[in-house]
Amino acid sequence: MKSNLANIFRIQKFLQEIKYPDYHRISREISEYLKKKRHISESNIFERLFKQEPWEYISGYVQFCGIQFKVTKDTLIPRIETEQMVYQSVDLIKKKKIKNIIDVGTGSGCIAISIASLLKDISPYSIYATDISRKVLKIAQINEENVLKKKHIKWVKNDLICDITPLKGNTLIVANLPYIPTEMYTKLNKSVLDYEPRLALDGGETGLELYKRLFEQIKGKKISVTAIYLETETSIIEDTHKLAKKYYPRKKISVIQDSFERSRFILIQ
Ligand SMILES: C[S@@+](CC[C@H](N)C(=O)[O-])C[C@H]1O[C@@H](n2cnc3c(N)ncnc32)[C@H](O)[C@@H]1O
Repeated sequence: MKSNLANIFRIQKFLQEIKYPDYHRISREISEYLKKKRHISESNIFERLFKQEPWEYISGYVQFCGIQFKVTKDTLIPRIETEQMVYQSVDLIKKKKIKNIIDVGTGSGCIAISIASLLKDISPYSIYATDISRKVLKIAQINEENVLKKKHIKWVKNDLICDITPLKGNTLIVANLPYIPTEMYTKLNKSVLDYEPRLALDGGETGLELYKRLFEQIKGKKISVTAIYLETETSIIEDTHKLAKKYYPRKKISVIQDSFERSRFILIQ
């Protein structure tokens, strides 16, 4: 017990020195990890963390909506702020009797799988999850197996939703697509630039390109869209709102704040 605490304190001290965020929680996780992986040395972990490799890529896992998700260098590390899209989507699905859910740019599958996990006991619904990366979809399928213990989600390798066929019934589209304007992307922290996939983050010159193309694709499809829930970046929230208004002039469009009170989400309904 004593030596366990001593280990945790030593790890904490190191994490504090390198200014690693959330060092209390991470130090415990590292200590547990080292106990299980006897062949991996503490100095090896320290070296990787010192180079700013995110702990989630070293351990291979992240907690999202209270669920453990596998992540690799091909998948974005799901962010805590995104959890609110899941909880608010579940409320919408129940309130608006949604029959189809499409998660666009699914990555590790964290949004689609968390929604499916929370909806266990409501009437049948279909859930689709798309991503342009085949590698990412493989990880998402592993996560589905680990979390849901059954195949429920239809995984589609797609540019946005281009091959999704007409869907009957109310549909909710949830999308956390790359939205960081390229110039801003190039100035992100080393831990993001060196380790997380650019494909998941770089949203092009304005950060609006993918959402604009998504709206175009939706327009050309026979889908009864009840609501669209998007994550974006505070600095382009007004532009994203304007874009949504252009495509959906008659719908109610709300700006929603994240848990840090930053305007980060757009809900069209
Ligand atoms: C910001 S990440 C979000 C991942 C996950 N949904 C989450 O919240 O953690 C964006 C995802 O969109 C995918 N993506 C990028 N361009 C895409 C496109 N044109 N069509 C579909 N998915 C795309 C990336 O591969 C990445 O997995």
